Amino acid sequence: MESYTIARVVHIVAIVLWIGGVAMVTTVIIPAVKKMKSKEDKNTTFEKIEGRFALQAKITTLITALSGFYMLYVLDAWDRYLDSKYWWIHAMTLVWLIFTLILYVLEPLVLHKLFKRYAEKNPNKTFNIIHRLHWVLLILSMLTIMGAVAGSHGLFFFD
Ligand code: HEM
Repeated sequence: MESYTIARVVHIVAIVLWIGGVAMVTTVIIPAVKKMKSKEDKNTTFEKIEGRFALQAKITTLITALSGFYMLYVLDAWDRYLDSKYWWIHAMTLVWLIFTLILYVLEPLVLHKLFKRYAEKNPNKTFNIIHRLHWVLLILSMLTIMGAVAGSHGLFFFD
């Protein structure tokens, strides 16, 4: 069971770095970038910061999934996917899937080019859309964290 506890510690440390970073980008960095006057400053600052964070997020999402699936394996709790009271297990998996898809597939293949094109044409509108999407992901992640902490300590909202 020691390895299970280590996996839990690793899981949470990775999540703190990952979702904490998403919170920082959403509540501090994007608002600061939106206030910048020149389009060039806006675009290059955002690209530099988000580019560095994307690498951190790629690593931490991977560690989160490895430790999470390891815990499910040790607990032999795969059947939780079939029980709605464990909605927070579905939520964790969904949040991980969304970020993995964005970081590993959509960003390099589509989103990067799309950002460059639209940020050049209409930076204000582009940053408003990006900001809103970050808020959606942050709120979804926070609800998941609340459900997971409560649920894994025996408090189920829907029994
Ligand atoms: C593939 C993705 C994931 C899997 C398979 C997974 C699996 C697990 C498992 C098995 C547990 C322990 C449950 C228990 O003790 O009953 C857990 C705990 C937890 N997970 Fe995940 N997880 C994943 C992703 C995430 C994500 C994306 C988040 C955050 C947004 C998250 C946040 C948490 C939290 C906060 C706990 C509770 C820890 C505690 O209170 O001690 N997990 N996860």
